[in-house]
This record gives sequence, structure tokens and C-alpha cells, in this order.
Amino acid sequence: MSDEFISENIKAALKNDPPGEWMTELPGECIRLSSGYPTPALVPAMQLKEAVIGLLEEEQDLPLHYLGSPRALKLKEQIQKRLGERGIRVLEEELLVTSGACQAIDLIARILIDEETVVAIETPTYMEALEIFQNYTERFISIPIDEHGLQTNLFEEVLAERKRKGLAIPRFLYTIPTFQNPTGTTMTEERRQHVVELATKYNFLIVEDDAYGELSFNKRPIPLKAMDKEGRVLHVGSLSKVVAPGLRIGWVTGATEFIHALDWFKKDLGHPFAEATMASFLEYTDFEKRLKILQDTYQGKCSVLLSALEQYLPESVSWYVPEGGYFVWVRIKGVDTSQLLTQALSEGVSYVPGKYFFLDQKEGTEFLRLSFSYADEKEIVEGIQKLGKVVTKWMELRP
Ligand SMILES: Cc1ncc(COP(=O)(O)O)c(C=O)c1O
Repeated sequence: MSDEFISENIKAALKNDPPGEWMTELPGECIRLSSGYPTPALVPAMQLKEAVIGLLEEEQDLPLHYLGSPRALKLKEQIQKRLGERGIRVLEEELLVTSGACQAIDLIARILIDEETVVAIETPTYMEALEIFQNYTERFISIPIDEHGLQTNLFEEVLAERKRKGLAIPRFLYTIPTFQNPTGTTMTEERRQHVVELATKYNFLIVEDDAYGELSFNKRPIPLKAMDKEGRVLHVGSLSKVVAPGLRIGWVTGATEFIHALDWFKKDLGHPFAEATMASFLEYTDFEKRLKILQDTYQGKCSVLLSALEQYLPESVSWYVPEGGYFVWVRIKGVDTSQLLTQALSEGVSYVPGKYFFLDQKEGTEFLRLSFSYADEKEIVEGIQKLGKVVTKWMELRP
């Protein structure tokens, strides 16, 4: 009966794959190379406990009201400071705190996408963003990524052709230029410059998802937002990967007109207590020191994973070497990684099959995403050993 009441747009969206399909149920003992979660030991549980105690002693019931507290209001300043470190200078009215980067992406989709709107994405891309956009439109242009990020020359060719043929130019490009999910790749400076120029030339916006931007192993790439002179870039960020995902604190920065519209639809659907807790934590944390620990830890874990891949995977298997973030993108030629997953799970290791990161899932058959963030170094080696075993067996049975 509910069918007659549900809106046509929602009914159409419900025909897509359900959200979170990539999150396979894992057997108890499984080594989780699938989870893009922070290292448990680096989630600052005790410091957050202190932050909560300090907050409630100082502000009592205030952070628990709808309106939030003076401490929560400080969060914007703290985010502005973090952005400043990356060369992004924004005014208070150009910044909206959201419930994670995902709420920011959803709000952006809501204010920018009409049914007929064309959205440009890089391929492969973050599956949750893909799911969000698919709730609003079916019209996508997908531009492939190589080891240097989005292939901007191909993008330009597509744009030029669409213009020539009188086809719609995408309203925005969604990109993760820095330590991308799932490929771990980073867009070169030249390509960054190019894509910002293309946005001007063809008149579209860029949604820059920078969820991993602070987790660099060496060089800190310049965000697109720091190159943006025309207010074309909406920069989305998150503290999930560097503090704690359960607090779900993210943000979006951009021109005031956009922030005004985003805020309008966000209404007061934020979390004043989580915001105040995060603000209190940031107030008493040496964040640069914390970042250095995170960067060193993830770099160490990444290199353990890469060495294990060299050691335990057959020679025909290839991968991109990341310069930061959480992920390594692996290609196993001739192997359907969705089918292989059953064997991997029964051996005791998980990964995410590549297909979930593609609009056309067939394109992702031979790929898989490994995460070095969650498992510890010993588990990473064991996990890759297990993966090596199932891949080798698969190849022997199906030469
Ligand atoms: C590229 C990207 N953007 C956004 C998010 C989600 O961030 P948040 O937890 O702030 O919603 C993730 C988390 O996996 C991600 O990989």
C-alpha cells in the first residue's frame, strides 16, 4: 500500500542498489582490509572522554540544548584555522559545519541537482557519493582516473564535444583530488590547474571532497579550493579520518550564496553536543603533533602492505602507490574480484570489490580496494598472505 504514497522521485531512487551493499557481512575472525576506518588505537577515546567531562563542567546543560553552546560556536574558528594551514582562507559565512562530509555531499546534491542535471564524476569514485548523486539524477559523465588522478585532457575532450553537439555541460564535477577513495591517487598540480581552468572555460562548479587531505606521507598537495579565484569550488572536509568518525563532524566551504542555500536545507539538523565535544577536544589538542603521528603511522602501515603485496601476490597483479590517505587500489587481471571475495572471506581476509566504485560495475571487475588504516601491521601481512593464497589458487584453477 505504501507504494501509492511514496514520491515518484523516491520510487525511482529505490530501484538503485541499496546503500551500503559493499559492506559485506564479515566472519568474526576476518582481517579487515575492507574497512576505511581509522586505526582503533589512534581514535582518541580517553581524550574525548576528558573533553566531554571538561565541557559539561564548564557549560553544564548548554551543549545539550537545540541551540548549542558557546563552545560549539568555536568549532567554526577551529576549522577555519585548519583550512588556513592548507592555504584555504574562508570567512565564517563561507563555512557550514555538517554531520560529516556525507551530509555536505547530500546537501550539495539537493541544492544543485535537478532531474535533468548532468553530473561529472571521476571513475572509479567514492561509492557513497555515487549513491547520493544517484538519488537525485541518472545523468552522469564519468572520466577515468590514472595514477595521477583525474585525466583532465580526456575531460576537456568530452566537454568540447558536448559543447560542439549542443549537449548539456555538467553542472558540477565531483572529485577527490587528494589521496582518493578508492584509488589512493593524487591529482598532479598541473591537472589541478587544468581542471580549475576548465571550470571557468565551460562554466561548471567543482565539488572537491578532501576527506583525506591532511593525511599526507610527504608533500601536502594544494587543494583546488586554494586555487579557486572565482568561487567555483565547494570544498568538503571531515574530521572522521583524523579524529573519530562516530562524531560525524564535517563541513563545506564555498561562496556565501551556496552556503546560504545549504544551510537553509540543513536547518538545525546538526549535533550540537558532538560539535561542542569536538571543539573542546581541538581546544586542548596539539593538532599538528597529532597529525604527524597519524601520518607516520599510516605511512608505516602502507609500506608494510605494499611490501606484503610484492612478496605474496603473483607478478601479474599491479597497484598504485599512494602518497597518503587510507587505500591501495589493486588490479588482478582476469580475475572477478566479486567472485574471489567468497574465497577470501573463508580464508579470513576482506576487501572491497572494485565494482562498487563504478557507475558501470562491469568496469570494476578486475579491481579491489585494500585499506591499510584499520588492521594492525601484523594483521596486514597475514591478510595479504591470505589474499595471495586465494589469488594464486584461483589462477591455477583458471589459467
Ligand atoms: C572520499 C570520502 N568522502 C567522505 C567520506 C565520509 O566522511 P564523513 O564520515 O565525514 O561523512 C569518506 C569516508 O569514507 C570518504 O572516503
